[in-house]
Amino acid sequence: MYKIFNTVEEVSAYTSQCILKTIQEKPNAVLGLATGSTMKPVYAHLVQKLQNNPVDVSQLTTFNLDEYLGLSGEHAQSYNYFMCEHLFNRLGSPIGRYNLPNGLAEDIEAACQAYSDIIKQVGGLDLQLLGIGSNGHIGFNEPYTSFSSRTHLIELTEQTRLDNSRFFTDKSQMPTHAITLGIQDILEAKEILLVATGSNKAEIMAELYASDVNEALPASVLKQHSKVTIVLDKEAAALLP
Ligand code: F6R
Repeated sequence: MYKIFNTVEEVSAYTSQCILKTIQEKPNAVLGLATGSTMKPVYAHLVQKLQNNPVDVSQLTTFNLDEYLGLSGEHAQSYNYFMCEHLFNRLGSPIGRYNLPNGLAEDIEAACQAYSDIIKQVGGLDLQLLGIGSNGHIGFNEPYTSFSSRTHLIELTEQTRLDNSRFFTDKSQMPTHAITLGIQDILEAKEILLVATGSNKAEIMAELYASDVNEALPASVLKQHSKVTIVLDKEAAALLP
């Protein structure tokens, strides 16, 4: 299902309302969260909504999609830092439990497996929030990642490194690898919201719309899920038929 809005503000208001609804209906919900520019206004709206409609977040559990390899949570470009800055530290009361892949884990493989296992142990993701890369990645599942993948270490493509180096003042510090939730983990979420805004997402959204399900375009796997909403502003939707 597509929801197309005129502005980023409307996209963010709608998306944050869906998140709020999930928390109101299930205070012990498990949320899958994303980072990136698309999510900044979404979290700003969510923070506002949680201030206006106080709900108990003490039983909430969140799992972020990804984290750069080699960055500690204190690094300003780490996704841990992003989440604290844009969401967790802005809430009136602390969230029950939040999780991100550990970019400094000594045994990456074991840490990855544990990440997917913990999600299962807590009953799976009730709602997964996704952005999309200009190459169609979801999480950091780059093109040709297996659809049966679980949390894993991935080498970022040139395209992703180029796109995301905008956040690094010293471009040479842009990590080459990241840990990401796998595609199978994402697909097991009960509900998925994919959000894309801006003209730089118009081409990939048109490609996704027209594409069959194939590993060259990771987001195309969402066509196999029964409860996905694609939330776009008119710029990202500009090339849709
Ligand atoms: C981030 C993530 C990525 C981003 C995607 C879009 O946690 O999983 O898939 O959602 O790269 O990033 P922005 O929103 O910066 O265009």
